[in-house]
Amino acid sequence: RHQWQGVIDEYRSLLDIAADIPAVTLGEGGTPLIRAEKLSELTGAQVWVKYEGLNPTGSFKDRGMTMAITKAKAHGAKAVICASTGNTSASAAAFATKADLTCAVLVPAGKISPGKMSQAVAHGATLLEVDGNFDDCLTLCRKLSESYPVHLVNSVNPDRIEGQKTASFEVVDVLGDAPDIHVLPVGNAGNITAYWKGYNQYQGIGVSTKLPQMWGFQAAGAAPLVLGHPVTEPDTIATAIRIGNPASWDRAIEARDASGGLIDSVTDEQILAAHKVLSRQEGIFVEPGSAASVAGLLKMAEAGRVPAGAVIAVTVTGHGLKDPSWALHTEDGSAIEPVRVPVDAVSAARALGLEGQ
Ligand code: F0G
Repeated sequence: RHQWQGVIDEYRSLLDIAADIPAVTLGEGGTPLIRAEKLSELTGAQVWVKYEGLNPTGSFKDRGMTMAITKAKAHGAKAVICASTGNTSASAAAFATKADLTCAVLVPAGKISPGKMSQAVAHGATLLEVDGNFDDCLTLCRKLSESYPVHLVNSVNPDRIEGQKTASFEVVDVLGDAPDIHVLPVGNAGNITAYWKGYNQYQGIGVSTKLPQMWGFQAAGAAPLVLGHPVTEPDTIATAIRIGNPASWDRAIEARDASGGLIDSVTDEQILAAHKVLSRQEGIFVEPGSAASVAGLLKMAEAGRVPAGAVIAVTVTGHGLKDPSWALHTEDGSAIEPVRVPVDAVSAARALGLEGQ
């Protein structure tokens, strides 16, 4: 039986990498595109969810990291560094370990989920908590990589974008053509840049016949691309996308405009509502930042802006286990406690509401 080879060897001829460079891979990519019946009903479109939480470290970052680490290794780097809201650092730490490189990560103090922090630490990265936000961490990392022998693996590194574009290839490979609309959450704006690049490449070589509209959604408290200016104190419960000055700003705007798409914002309440729709109605568990795409799609549907019957691919970027606390609270913030029972069938039946049925 064929085992998926990871995105480099599955798509090598379409990527900027020489034929003889061995891939540093954990089997990333090849994630399912799931038919979303409930979201289709809610929006009047044909909605498919690209479940990127099923990558080896639990987020889409692995697609870009396999490329960035493979090339860093091939070029003789010994150490890599990145700034992160958590997922990039988890991915960099894992792939650096696989490649026998050392890894340093700079994260905003108190603003990354414990699950993500545990991944970086488990894989042996040196982790610095910075008294600042993600944008400050990225500025620091850029300076350090200019002055010291550490290779930067944030998405300002073009190898990251190159690897991440494979997600568009996979969507087209499954659907048989590009969707009408592709929806995704936007933080540092690397991913929307990468998808747009991938869709253009596939159309350019004739694999697909059209380009999708790119719809990006930022959290309302961290929506510089919507406001048109950087946000100095970004704020949202979706810590993955708590970013005030996206590095790929211009390319995100280019993807929006060239595709006839849009970049809009969603509130934390809308994000949590979409998180719930995904987990309760679709069986798909994501972290809050990932639900921004679905929140945006539902917002557009309510505004009557989703074309009837359109084929829509929605990327959900990270696994729910990355940041599970949101599932354990009700809307008003109170904790959801499990019901405790003795080892007794009658008590269990009573607790389950089965008595009298
Ligand atoms: N969703 C998740 C789960 C993320 O972790 C990120 C970014 C995004 C969406 C936004 O993607 O930055 O390409 O626009 N996380 C980065 C990190 C910043 O450090 O893990 P983007």
